[in-house]
Amino acid sequence: TKPVTIPALQTMRTKGEKITMLTCYDASFTALLDRCGIDTILVGDSLGMVCQGHSSTLPVSVQDIAYHTASVSRAKPTALILADLPFGSYGTPEMAFTNAVQLMQAGAQMVKLEGGAWLAPTVRFLIERGIPICAHLGLTPQSVHQLGGYKVQGKTTEAVEQIKADALALQAAGASMVVLEAIPATLGKELTALLTMLTIGIGAGPDCAGQVLVLHDLLGVFPGHKARFVKDFMEGKPNIDAAIKAYIAAVKDTSFPGPEHCF
Ligand code: KIV
Ligand code: NA
Repeated sequence: TKPVTIPALQTMRTKGEKITMLTCYDASFTALLDRCGIDTILVGDSLGMVCQGHSSTLPVSVQDIAYHTASVSRAKPTALILADLPFGSYGTPEMAFTNAVQLMQAGAQMVKLEGGAWLAPTVRFLIERGIPICAHLGLTPQSVHQLGGYKVQGKTTEAVEQIKADALALQAAGASMVVLEAIPATLGKELTALLTMLTIGIGAGPDCAGQVLVLHDLLGVFPGHKARFVKDFMEGKPNIDAAIKAYIAAVKDTSFPGPEHCF
């Protein structure tokens, strides 16, 4: 199989094939996800909660993400590898570049950062220097203290207009993908129609170009609260491969997310 590239993902969108993404933090699970046929792998800063036991993503460092990205990369997946720029690592375009280089050199093929139009100059600075960008809008966990908790976003007319304006600004700056987290399904659909960049939803409805979940959530290995958008795909499955294949199949045939997973 050929390595998954950004143009290949764009072609999938054009053809109406949903894009699958899961978080992953190590070589063994990367090999497993890859043989099951996952399209993209995110070394998310959720590793701060899932692997390190923190109660938020804020303590995660660039070195932490680079360490896990290198572990994922050593499995040489066909899937495209994305890595999160963690909290505090992209306050200026120059900082973002220095830190993104660490992640790209560890094996990332795209980096993700959280925030709206204020990041447009940073996105342009990075893409001009050869670093593909995934944006992240809606519920942005690095801003949990600003948001006052892990809450659904985009619930008022003003908030909807803000998210649309942010998405357009980031797209104009050169972002090729955006994760949409915990927003009404109607807004996920509108954004997907509005944007040429690829929309990857987590609690953003079934109409996004693709879907992402945290691997441990999908396997039913969640230490804490189970979010509405999470589905335990291990239920009734004999092994992890079967659960991952069921997730991929459900995203591709649009049976996941169902109404019970949406806002
Ligand atoms: O860190 C992460 O796992 C993420 C996904 C939930 C999109 O950013
Ligand atoms: Na993240």
